[in-house]
Amino acid sequence: MSVGIDEISFYTSSYYFDLRTLAEIQETDPDKYYVGIGQEKMGMAAPDEDIVTMAANAALPLIENAGSDAVGTLLFATETGIDQSKAAGVYVHRLLGLGANCRVVELKQACYSATAALQMACALVARQPQRKVLVIASDVARYDLNTPGEATQGCGAVAMMISANPRLVSIDPEVGNYTEDVMDFWRPNYRTTALVDGKYSTKIYLKSLKKAWENFSEVSPLSFGDLSRFCYHLPFSRMAQKAHQHLVKMNKVVMTPEQVEEQIEPTLSYNRIIGNSYTASMYIGLCSLLETCQDNLADQRIGFFSYGSGSVAEFYSGRVVPGYEQHLHTAKHREMLDNRQSLSYDEYLNLYRYPNPTDGGEHELPHVTPGRFRLAAITHHKREYVTC
Ligand code: HMG
Repeated sequence: MSVGIDEISFYTSSYYFDLRTLAEIQETDPDKYYVGIGQEKMGMAAPDEDIVTMAANAALPLIENAGSDAVGTLLFATETGIDQSKAAGVYVHRLLGLGANCRVVELKQACYSATAALQMACALVARQPQRKVLVIASDVARYDLNTPGEATQGCGAVAMMISANPRLVSIDPEVGNYTEDVMDFWRPNYRTTALVDGKYSTKIYLKSLKKAWENFSEVSPLSFGDLSRFCYHLPFSRMAQKAHQHLVKMNKVVMTPEQVEEQIEPTLSYNRIIGNSYTASMYIGLCSLLETCQDNLADQRIGFFSYGSGSVAEFYSGRVVPGYEQHLHTAKHREMLDNRQSLSYDEYLNLYRYPNPTDGGEHELPHVTPGRFRLAAITHHKREYVTC
């Protein structure tokens, strides 16, 4: 029996801010963003959107197909937690109409926790193959204005149904891990924006890739040449390009720059126009690969490098299941991305600065998002989510 990703779907806000406009305001060359970090647009959440509404919107098509009773566990990965106690997934559980016997828990370790959730889901399915596990990763990436991180903001959620004999990607059991206590990126509980030592974070990312790959090579029968495509954690698309060149060099493989690029390019398309979605970003990259790659990927092996600042990293692999292309949500995703609205600089600032009420009063939120789920109000410190 194989275990892995049976279905995958993602969601992002219907608003984006173009990095050309940011470059104009900052009197910077737009190519610093379009070419230098490889990013074009960043998703900006509306006032009535957050990790819960994006998560429910991402997961809805999966629940419509599998049925709400099929899910035995919902694992929710995020680093944009809305509550120190209650798991965000419990709200999603209600919005999606999941069964009362479905367990729900939230996981955190920066951008890595979706991968922890995926691996735990595979273990749960291996133990109880008749039950599916819904893994959701949802985040809003926020940095201070006028900092180098500002251009790498974004938002998005991805939902994956993990099952026995999956229809998209079967996950191999061998993994390579690397953990090191570092301060490259962090967000203390009292802050809404992350703190980051940007250049240092890129160095730790590359070091973690080397260490996780070495560990993977010790335990896996696969070598570099067995992997035809690579999905990397995507804080910005240029990071993946640098990482992949690093991995190729480490393995002393002889490849042309075009061949190196071909192994990752299809994973980057969605991220370039959504921005960093932290826990969701590598898996939105997987969607991008499966949905935009011109080649048939059936039976090809994919290498995955998941990185979460702080830091925990993991390298693992999976095999694309023949027939996968019949089970994707490509048209829906394209339509969502094509229908997004561009923001002016002032509109971007308004969304960035939209107040997050903390006074315990009654606050209704304007109905802005076209999504199926929205945050309608915050009343006496309680978040009220509704289905539209
Ligand atoms: P910066 O320091 O302002 O940028 O921000 P820079 O000056 O290094 O320029 C970036 C690149 O653009 C350089 O290329 C420039 O040469 C090039 P490189 O040398 O790197 O190859 N460039 C141009 N190219 C073409 N035309 C031009 C031009 N001008 C410059 N005119 C930095 C970069 C990464 C520091 C910033 O974006 C940042 O702080 N980002 C946030 C942190 C981050 O994303 N780190 C990534 C690794 S950590 C991670 O992935 C985890 C994370 O997702 C969080 C989590 O785990 O929860 C962040």
